[in-house]
Amino acid sequence: MCGIVGYIGENPSKEFIIDGLKKLEYRGYDSAGIMLYTDKAYLKKAKGKIYNLENKLSEKKLNNAKIGIGHTRWATHGIPSFSNSHPHKSNSGDLYIVHNGIIENYESIKEILIKKGYKFYSDTDTEVLINLIEEVKKVNKVKLGKALKIALNSVIGAFAIAVFDIKNPHEIVVAKLGSPLAIGIENKNFYIGSDPSPFLNFTKRCLYLNDNEMAILSMKKGLILRNFITDSVINQKVENLKFEIEQVEKGGYKHFMLKEIFEQPKNIIDAIRGRILDDYKIKFSSIESHIDKFKNANRLIFISCGTSWHASLLGEYYFEELARIPAGVEYASEFRYRNPIINENDVIIPVSQSGETADTLAAIKLAKQFNPFLFGICNVVGSSISRETDSGVYIHAGPEIGVASTKAFTCQSLIMLMLSLDIGYRLGKVNDEKYKQIITEIKKLSRYAKKVLEEFDNIKKIAKKYKNAKNFLYLGRGYNFPIALEGALKLKEISYIHAEGYPAAEMKHGPIALIDKNMPVVVIATKKGSYHKIVSNVMEIKARGGKVIAVVTKGDTEIKKIADDIIEIPDVEELVAPIIANIPLQLLSYYIADFKKCEIDQPRNLAKSVTVE
Ligand code: G6P
Repeated sequence: MCGIVGYIGENPSKEFIIDGLKKLEYRGYDSAGIMLYTDKAYLKKAKGKIYNLENKLSEKKLNNAKIGIGHTRWATHGIPSFSNSHPHKSNSGDLYIVHNGIIENYESIKEILIKKGYKFYSDTDTEVLINLIEEVKKVNKVKLGKALKIALNSVIGAFAIAVFDIKNPHEIVVAKLGSPLAIGIENKNFYIGSDPSPFLNFTKRCLYLNDNEMAILSMKKGLILRNFITDSVINQKVENLKFEIEQVEKGGYKHFMLKEIFEQPKNIIDAIRGRILDDYKIKFSSIESHIDKFKNANRLIFISCGTSWHASLLGEYYFEELARIPAGVEYASEFRYRNPIINENDVIIPVSQSGETADTLAAIKLAKQFNPFLFGICNVVGSSISRETDSGVYIHAGPEIGVASTKAFTCQSLIMLMLSLDIGYRLGKVNDEKYKQIITEIKKLSRYAKKVLEEFDNIKKIAKKYKNAKNFLYLGRGYNFPIALEGALKLKEISYIHAEGYPAAEMKHGPIALIDKNMPVVVIATKKGSYHKIVSNVMEIKARGGKVIAVVTKGDTEIKKIADDIIEIPDVEELVAPIIANIPLQLLSYYIADFKKCEIDQPRNLAKSVTVE
């Protein structure tokens, strides 16, 4: 939550910071602010989106500023308002800060500072932090870097911060614990971002801060990296980023979400690349070197949130079917507070697109106390979760900007299928014939996805027909149950229509009471598995006047006769079908939300990367 951007160097900074904030708007968009420094510090803030802030930056002087910090906010402490917007300044007016994260013990620090005469003008924890740094600086008579180090040792919580001191306007100091922070480096220019997307146009040389690290970005001394707990200097591991700016731009699509939906055939190829060999073998080197951990596993525990939780549920079904290892899925937020039973023969599988979700990270930290094997499934390369785990795989979906996850879910699900197949085969639970059959289908998956996307016109018509519905029900059985959950989540996230995903057979234990002519029911009814049971469920809905939108296998005749609207997907292998069946549901949600003129890429109250509890 919240995005931070900063720059210090030889070039004007205003445009970079504003453009950078727009790239990070997926992290929050309740309010935005900027501090630009030329002859003095100029602080500008605005409620709402970045363009509101942009409208306040016409003053010519601001174009000369070569130093600046900016922030786009997802409110945690205090309502979205002008006074709660970042940057925050200290009481003396010397120090400025932007902050992503939460300072948990801010109230006790605030009380102490109030007793010392400090005044507070916002409800934020961030304003407390900047005044704490000021107080430490004053009492210890030290420079900003030193003050920051001392202050950070007395705060509890999570943060990625950038701090500027007008008394020493040659440097910006940044630090990280829990929330992500990347520094782009190009000669004497330093770029700061919550992720590298703001500076990809300027440099590919990137330093990701690790937890407990701070960096002084100095025009005079260059970059100095230290651990703020041990106070030791750290060697800098600057990486050369591989992704391109086009990957984080809309490329002609109306929304990032639509672009990301249509990108999926390519993402599937990227996720498979190098992992299926020509002789029809799956190869994950991280599985090859840790196969004993899976062989001896008591059980697999997936931990995740949101859409990643739905992909994990599909993973549970796949791993039990193919690898025959007991598996379970946990909401990270529940798991971390539940005193769970974990032993060292368990394999814990955190699943996360961003790799930064606070609850998932906390669940990993808890699990670590029991010494299980931690195998992460992440999208963002180098993210905290990928570093906190013993081993793992990347899903290679590329940057996902739309807040509602689409391509990441598809790639997570595909990777789940490939991993469980690889492990199952190595453990002798899958025979040659099945192994080859599924691999053959996986190799065709990109083409199948393309075929489904060609259906967009039909899906758009269906979306138009149901756009005014107040409630939706999504039903699926077996492998299609996680797809029902994900379909419902997608709709509520971006169109604000209430939607529930349910196991189809459970309908009769409650949701059936809701069904009437105003209640569209999306039924995922692909061939095989419990198809005939689903047909009966569809009958039950129709008998109560419900409207049925059915996702069926091409060539289906039975459901076609009774459903009101049909979306066909290619006739694919049963385990592959849910991955394909999900794609039209993404489009259905997208078009409904678009007809309703919703803010699709940045739905209200949501954020892409939830770095707070
Ligand atoms: C937020 C996002 C969801 C995402 C969830 C988990 O709620 O809006 O799209 O599924 O976090 O995020 P992760 O990055 O851990 O997959």
